[in-house]
Amino acid sequence: MGYRFIILPLVGTNSDTIRKVGLSGIALFVSLLMSCEYYVENEDLQGDLCNPVVSYSVDIAPLIANNCMPCHNGDGSIPEAPNLTIYESVASVSGLIKEVTQSRRMPIDGTITDAEIEAIRCWVDIGALNN
Ligand code: HEC
Repeated sequence: MGYRFIILPLVGTNSDTIRKVGLSGIALFVSLLMSCEYYVENEDLQGDLCNPVVSYSVDIAPLIANNCMPCHNGDGSIPEAPNLTIYESVASVSGLIKEVTQSRRMPIDGTITDAEIEAIRCWVDIGALNN
């Protein structure tokens, strides 16, 4: 009721206008609600997966050693496969590593868990640190 009293003097008595204003108000409210919810969910996800912070030496290096060798050992037998044996070379293609694991293009044999893929994503997103 209070809502109507505020709106009426602003838009006149044309009921079509009132309906339009009401509808756009509802649409705005719903989209605000949804963006809020999305934001909160996203933050929860980030918090869960990146906390404790993913470490290169503890999490990522062993993960790569277990899942990406021998194809990425840098011995030159697969020239298109970047060397993933040392931090500097892993970090230099970290964006690509995130991309090919998110899309499950790598590892070729598919032996990597969702948690490992998320660990990679998290490590790349926090800056591919040598931590
Ligand atoms: C069985 C061998 C094999 C395994 C295991 C493997 N790769 Fe690859 N990888 C390749 C080959 C071959 C290429 C080059 C051809 C291509 O890009 O598909 C490649 C290319 C890549 C590239 C470059 C992609 C581009 O577009 O230039 C990245 C990054 C990569 N691999 C990451 C990984 C990661 C990370 C893992 C482990 C989680 C992994 N690979 C496991 C064989 C492998």
